[in-house]
Amino acid sequence: MPSFMEPFRIKAIESIPFPSPDERREALTTAGYNLFRVPARKITIDLLTDSGTAAMSADQWAALMTGDESYAGARSFDRFQSVVQDLTGFPEVLPTHQGRAAERILLGNLLGLGDISVSNTHFDSTRASVEAAGAEAVDLPVPSYEGVQNPFGGDIDLDALAELLDGQSGPRIRCVVLTVTNNANGGQPVSLLNIAGARKLCDTHGIPLFLDASRFAENAYLITEREVGYADSTPRAVARTMFDLADGCWASLKKDGLANIGGLIALRDAELAGRCADQVIAFEGFPTYGGLAGRDLEVLAQGLIEVTDPDYLRYRAESARWFGEQLGLAGLPVLQPTGCHAVYVDAGVLLEHIPPQQFPATAFANELYLAGGVRVCELGTLVFGRPGQDGAPDTPAPRELVRFALPRRVYTASHLEYVVDVAELVRSKAEQLRGYRLVRQGGAMRQFTAVLEQA
Ligand SMILES: Cc1ncc(COP(=O)(O)O)c(C=O)c1O
Repeated sequence: MPSFMEPFRIKAIESIPFPSPDERREALTTAGYNLFRVPARKITIDLLTDSGTAAMSADQWAALMTGDESYAGARSFDRFQSVVQDLTGFPEVLPTHQGRAAERILLGNLLGLGDISVSNTHFDSTRASVEAAGAEAVDLPVPSYEGVQNPFGGDIDLDALAELLDGQSGPRIRCVVLTVTNNANGGQPVSLLNIAGARKLCDTHGIPLFLDASRFAENAYLITEREVGYADSTPRAVARTMFDLADGCWASLKKDGLANIGGLIALRDAELAGRCADQVIAFEGFPTYGGLAGRDLEVLAQGLIEVTDPDYLRYRAESARWFGEQLGLAGLPVLQPTGCHAVYVDAGVLLEHIPPQQFPATAFANELYLAGGVRVCELGTLVFGRPGQDGAPDTPAPRELVRFALPRRVYTASHLEYVVDVAELVRSKAEQLRGYRLVRQGGAMRQFTAVLEQA
């Protein structure tokens, strides 16, 4: 039995579909063996992403009705702004319709041709924004060692950062970005010690430090659990210390905003904020709504208050830990320690007989769907491999991970028990699974549109 329970009761429900095995096989074949292309009505448990999939609270639904839809200077913006200022301490606040719009605008203002952005790991849309500005995205995740569990596996490698800053490329570095938690690196947290270390290096070299704060509350909670000296701090106080160490942040509010849409830029520098505001106007809308409705701003303001509730965050971390333990007991190779927003399984270990170029993570994910209508996300060679040029084989991703993302406040422990049963079934016939080959792939982010066939 789990040693936690959902700290809420259910007030509105949504039925979930139970397509038959034949319907699932047909849906997957029609989708070109790509789970992104399977219609949601054919999915029983959807763990594809934690982004934009949260369930709202009664207070958020109530706040939604108070939305002020005025084009300029809406009351809902005032509320959103004051909640964000109170949380982050950043005076300049710009809403955007989602995280990648915020990244595109802020990074587009900071970076130009030949510049460098350094990060613990740029998320894929962040990397796309860096590259769209003609700059280079350099990832310096802290090294991981086989069999060694790092409580702060999301950290940036400070030695490597110091070396880069002092080296030949140093003058080209325009910003350091810490993604908290580090989504592309197992959803692991970044410690306050590490953020402070990055701050010091940035100060020495006169470079700004930004947070990609999409999961700031989960990062803050994991600090209270894992970092010496913070066990008695509230997640909100820790979050504020994280923001105090930075010059600004952007966030996809589809995660820790506890909402289905939204993003933000928050900054100390009024001049930089002014330049960003010009682009918010050009691409998102007037800076007091930034591509969102007034009701969205109300929902987000309420979500940003609720998300630092220690009971909610404890449940979030405990449910991921329990789910990871259960998958481990069912014989799945689970990445440890678990974070909050997802549990990662190493399909490369499970399906050793499938070479990376035949996408073992896709094979595992597809079989979970066929076996029980469970949708997860492949984060292996299809996503992080480098496509081979002129018929050459792909350069494999470092690991063949499959992410079981946990939408916020949506699924209960019994839903996750069902997923464990399905995963165990797939594990029991792992050696029979076959890989895939690509029939068609798009450009960047090929995973969204790729069409595959069985190898
Ligand atoms: C760390 C991180 N940054 C940025 C983004 C992009 O945000 P959005 O999907 O709202 O555009 C994501 C989305 O998953 C993310 O996880």
